[in-house]
Amino acid sequence: MLKLQTIVASTRPGRAGLSIGTWFNGVAAAHKDFQAELVDLKAVNLPMFDEPNHPRMRQYVHQHTKDWSATIDAADAFVFVLPEYNHGFPASIKNAIDYLSHEWADKPLGFVSYGGVSGGTRAVQLLKPVAGAVGLVVAGEVNIPFFSQYRQDDLFVPPASFVDSANLMLNRIAKVGATLKAGRKELAAA
Ligand SMILES: Cc1cc2nc3c(=O)[nH]c(=O)nc-3n(C[C@H](O)[C@H](O)[C@H](O)COP(=O)(O)O)c2cc1C
Repeated sequence: MLKLQTIVASTRPGRAGLSIGTWFNGVAAAHKDFQAELVDLKAVNLPMFDEPNHPRMRQYVHQHTKDWSATIDAADAFVFVLPEYNHGFPASIKNAIDYLSHEWADKPLGFVSYGGVSGGTRAVQLLKPVAGAVGLVVAGEVNIPFFSQYRQDDLFVPPASFVDSANLMLNRIAKVGATLKAGRKELAAA
């Protein structure tokens, strides 16, 4: 089993992101290869990056960074659930990535993006090089255009085709994730 964290990027009141993240986390929990966990950046509540040392040194001075490091260290795979803000990604997810380095490395990453006609694709495209810089390995994406038509109060209820797309991405994350997990173990033992 791989430990998969679904990380909800949006932190604003009334956000759609929590319902979309909760939906995706449910799909991941039903998948045979994952132990699924929802991580909400609003609850994590990181300040704007405030560590004096480069994260590669892992010399964290703040308790919030030590806690965030332990959370990400424990995972084998990630899915970022993110909206598109002004044709880019929300600052919250960049900030959360920047806090750490080794904790992300050699682990697969999927995206669930949402927005208007773009389905959040521009946010994903801009975040890919950032993810690559910390060693995350992109393993797929699900883009949801005009997502608000699938919102029912606090629930997100998309058509079955989105569940199929989510499972296709999860299948790939499972394959890539198993290989990378074995590789990380070998590197640690070397
Ligand atoms: C600051 C801001 C910028 C936005 N820019 C875009 C955009 O570039 N493209 C888009 O499709 N939607 C854009 N939207 C609309 C969002 O898709 C919509 O508000 C969505 O609910 C945001 O996700 P959230 O509710 O999880 O925060 C923007 C919304 C906000 C608040």
